[in-house]
Amino acid sequence: MILGVESSCDDSSLALMDFDFSLKFYKKISQESEHSKFGGVVPELAARLHTQALPNLLQEIKPNFHKIKAVAVVNEPGLSVSLVGGISLAKALAISLNLPLISINHLIGHIYSLFLSSEITLPLGVLLISGGHTMVLEVDENRQINILAQTSDDSLGESFDKVAKMMGLGYPGGALIENLAKNGNSDKFDFTIPLRGDKRAIYSFSGLKNQARLAIENLQNEGKFDKEAMCDLAASFQKTATLHILDRLKMVVQGRNFTNFGVVGGASANLFIRSHLQEFCKNHNLNLITADLEFCSDNAAMIARAGISKYKRGEFCDINELKIQPRVSLQGSFI
Ligand code: KG4
Ligand code: ZN
Repeated sequence: MILGVESSCDDSSLALMDFDFSLKFYKKISQESEHSKFGGVVPELAARLHTQALPNLLQEIKPNFHKIKAVAVVNEPGLSVSLVGGISLAKALAISLNLPLISINHLIGHIYSLFLSSEITLPLGVLLISGGHTMVLEVDENRQINILAQTSDDSLGESFDKVAKMMGLGYPGGALIENLAKNGNSDKFDFTIPLRGDKRAIYSFSGLKNQARLAIENLQNEGKFDKEAMCDLAASFQKTATLHILDRLKMVVQGRNFTNFGVVGGASANLFIRSHLQEFCKNHNLNLITADLEFCSDNAAMIARAGISKYKRGEFCDINELKIQPRVSLQGSFI
């Protein structure tokens, strides 16, 4: 088995995956409720909570220690004080159990969430929509990544989080906004789709976030910020953000040689976005691949899965070379 370790942001997670991709153990301890009162992730608190959660998870897999063949751990990108928790645990295990280490890029881990129980299919297009990133990638037959588009400011998930915070809903905001939107009228607020007509392959969510902020402030000033208005605002914001995603996608997927197209990252759990992507893919002769809802957000199963591929290729990392990289570009790297 490969042990996967994830601690790049506010989730502590361990997974044990067999070489036939069967998941033997998977658990995640989310810190969401702890960060919620602050409206976002507080790094120092995240670090402290990882040091509590990770040893507890380790205790649970102790009976399986003798079956572990390598430890796959996220070393980039992420919050450095959070990454430290997973890296320290992985290094300590590698020393004490005499195991090789495998370093995993968190974003590449998300791509592997599409193939948790199967071999990867290449070439592949990927829309990565998470709290830290929003980008479109292509992975060629040789597993190499080319970035086709990425955000120039906020990520999609971050914009949901910030709008939710402005509405006083708590953190993380993605699912909260999606739920409110179910009962709202998405035509009520006439938000402008960002970068319409702009030919650059970039996303931008900060302008839309500001449109939402102004609408919230206006409603509050007029004493009309009630449940119905909140639902309408959530629906209008979610629709505009989704149309922006599709508008840019249309531009960058044309003429590419992939037919499989995956959507990954925390925000890929959004069913409204998923259904629009499904329609988009149908119209563009693409086959949409998704992860199970449980594995869209950060988890160690995708890290263990990515670890299996690296293990089979013999790509190990020397303990002294395993370093944290909070920021790193995916361009040109291999999945
Ligand atoms: O992939 P992830 O767990 O962490 C990062 O790598 O960033 O993504 C977390 C992000 C948060 O911003 C959260 O609000 C967003 O994913 N998210 C959603 C939904 N569920 C989670 N965004 C929109 N709709 C959702 N249903
Ligand atoms: Zn993530």
